[in-house]
Amino acid sequence: MTMIDRRSLLAGGAALLAAQATPAATAPATLKAAAAQRGRRFGSAFAWAPPGRDAASFDNLAYAALLQRDCAVLVAENQMKWQALRPSPDRFDFAQFDAMVDWAMRHGFAMRGHTLLWAYSKWFPAWLNNQDFGQRPATAAAAILDRHIDTVAKRYGGKIHSYDVVNEAVDPDTGGLRETSLSRAMGGTANVLDHAFRTARAAAPHAELVYNDYMSWEDGNEKHRAGVLKLLEEFHRRGTPVDALGVQSHIGLFQPTTNAAAVAHRLEPEWRRFLDRVVAMGYRLVITEFDVRDRGLPAAIGPRDRGVADFARAYLDIMLSYPELGDVLAWGLSDRYSWLRGFEPRPDGAIARGCPYDMDLRPKPLRDAMIAALAVGVPTKR
Ligand code: G3I
Repeated sequence: MTMIDRRSLLAGGAALLAAQATPAATAPATLKAAAAQRGRRFGSAFAWAPPGRDAASFDNLAYAALLQRDCAVLVAENQMKWQALRPSPDRFDFAQFDAMVDWAMRHGFAMRGHTLLWAYSKWFPAWLNNQDFGQRPATAAAAILDRHIDTVAKRYGGKIHSYDVVNEAVDPDTGGLRETSLSRAMGGTANVLDHAFRTARAAAPHAELVYNDYMSWEDGNEKHRAGVLKLLEEFHRRGTPVDALGVQSHIGLFQPTTNAAAVAHRLEPEWRRFLDRVVAMGYRLVITEFDVRDRGLPAAIGPRDRGVADFARAYLDIMLSYPELGDVLAWGLSDRYSWLRGFEPRPDGAIARGCPYDMDLRPKPLRDAMIAALAVGVPTKR
């Protein structure tokens, strides 16, 4: 036996002994712990519901236990939206959102605010769509917008560290900016958005200000991605105070496939080109609403869960390779309460399985895949 062989044998043996001496790194036990290993917070949307209602609320003890186990940051799924907070121009109703923020603070969670302006008529309260802005419409519309942002941001102060100041202002079909009653009154959507971000910066100087949208990596998102990039470039050119892009991350397999990883592999280059351009402008990233639409996968739970987990892992590995990525939030922890059940039911009637926990709040392969990705991603840079 030559010296080299003998030396390599000794070296190999020493390495084997060392490995046995130090326990192999085991996967972190929770989503919160996995994210924390790389300096991030993992979290989820949650809800308000009357006591005893079967909902994704903090009053649901089983669901609250999942939130406390896996989450360090929370966001209200619906209760901070205009429809919930402001039933009329001159009336605010904070009861439900106050209860959610109080519970979150008492239990040590950070809180995101979603959303100060959903710039999409479909989701405006009826009164805002029909508002008569009088003889000086730009002034009147700006006053309504300012009052909303000021009232919310000053009520919650430091309790909310990050706001989706504007949600979904880009039309995914054209890449242009959506028109609304506010944009018609204020001389265009760009004016509305700049006004919203400047007012938010003044009202919440401590907070991370986020533009949030659902442009994604799947085929068919090309115009949406281009429109969001154009908007971010315009914000940058005008000096609009936008700190981060909120990447909602409602990812999905929409065409029949049994090889989710192969689909992900094909989508990666274009998605990285998009993200590279965003961070090159100096924006940070936030994953704000992660879940997986599984309609292209077979109904059978085994293959479906495997496909969802593989697709999610590939996506998260890309996202978590960016140190600019901070908080990572799912849009709910359980299939039982997911918006996907009502908004995007599977054609075969099977219940979507796009959340880390199933209908009975049991963990799924998706949760393991999320933990694995969160634990090994590039650490965030704060
Ligand atoms: O609370 C009322 C209830 O009192 C009433 O009886 C019932 C029937 O009308 O409606 C209930 O409100 C519903 C609310 O969810 C709470 O369940 C609204 O109609 C319904 O439109 C609303 O849907 C939400 C949707 O946004 C629109 O706001 C979904 O739960 C929520 O998951 C979804 O979340 C959006 C994000 O905000 C933005 N990104 C996309 C994401 C998914 O669409």
